[in-house]
Amino acid sequence: MRLLRKQDNQVRVVMTHSAMQFISPLTFQALSGNSVSTELLDAEEENAMGHINLARWADKLVIAPATANIIAKLTHGLADDLLSTLYLATNCPVYIAPAMNHVMWNKAVTQENILRLQTHGVQLIGPESGDQACGEVGFGRMSEASDIVLKLTEESCSDYTLQSKNILISAGPTREFLDPVRYITNRSSGKMGYALAEAALNAGAKVTLISGPVNLTSSDKITRINVETAEQMHHAVLSRADKNDIYIGAAAVADYTPASISLKKIKKQANESTIQLQKTRDILTDVAALKNKPNFIVGFAAETDDLEHYAKNKLKQKKLDMIAANWVGQEQGGFDKDENALQVYWNTGSQCLEMTNKTHLAKQLINLITERVNEKNST
Ligand code: PMT
Repeated sequence: MRLLRKQDNQVRVVMTHSAMQFISPLTFQALSGNSVSTELLDAEEENAMGHINLARWADKLVIAPATANIIAKLTHGLADDLLSTLYLATNCPVYIAPAMNHVMWNKAVTQENILRLQTHGVQLIGPESGDQACGEVGFGRMSEASDIVLKLTEESCSDYTLQSKNILISAGPTREFLDPVRYITNRSSGKMGYALAEAALNAGAKVTLISGPVNLTSSDKITRINVETAEQMHHAVLSRADKNDIYIGAAAVADYTPASISLKKIKKQANESTIQLQKTRDILTDVAALKNKPNFIVGFAAETDDLEHYAKNKLKQKKLDMIAANWVGQEQGGFDKDENALQVYWNTGSQCLEMTNKTHLAKQLINLITERVNEKNST
């Protein structure tokens, strides 16, 4: 706490009932300058939802010391106290600094839990080997406070990898109108594109988000332009592309739109009816053909079969620097779900980003894009 405060960080403390048997909340209140939260249902909070308020407030969540018990609870999604519920409710990066007896640390179930938490994106700090509180010697000592703070600071620096870059991102579905009350659309929720916008912002970029109609909010540090149709999205992207260093097309843009829009509601008449469709303009292709195009262009590919083949074709045909391909129409990942997995291809390589929540996946993709941008700039 003292080291974090010394670096001008705002810190709020959550204590479990067990933690309070070691230290009084008053100690942390005095050190942090903020009241300490201990209860899941807090009548003092305006909306009685302390966990949601804390989850939205925090840029990082650090659990130190993390016992075998809290590690097991986080792994299995238990939410029976404020800390475990806060973990479920937050989208920010989470760090744990385990501390326990070395036999407990080495127990197969603890090691399995740690591995699973890491695949969920939780970052591990320590533990170290040495003298333990129980009098034994081995792995399980919590890392030194200075090492924990160093890890948090290192991460903050690497978060700022896209500083001074302008990034344009498209997200969500489009609506193609048939008449004043009906439209053709798709199942995109915008979650993937919005997570990318947030990850790019956290990496220090200036972000413009061109959004189809979705039910999501975005940070007020992101410039957001709302559109409905593929044609509007085309215009919104193309008119800004030349001012951006990177374009990421995560939107599910309609490939076809009704050839004409009826000004009046179409009446029910014959048993069968045919809608004439015409191709929309391809935004990615047109961005890549600009004279002053962004330095790095990333497309997405949503596929129900032969993912690698179709994704690589789109990479080539649309003249992209990178394509992030995902399976759609399956039980996990793709449209609307909170999780997704991506197979990312570029001209000289590929990488698989495993199934995880879209927030974490977006951060991984932004890191990958940053690496490729840096490589492109150095050649
Ligand atoms: O929004 P979510 O619910 O979180 O779901 C995320 C997602 C599945 C929508 C997202 O991960 C995704 O795959 N987005 C691209 C969907 C898509 O339209 O894929 P596609 O294979 O049909 O198109 C390939 C690429 O061409 C895409 O980058 C698309 O934005 C782009 N395109 C398509 C048509 C068009 N007229 N202009 C385009 O630029």
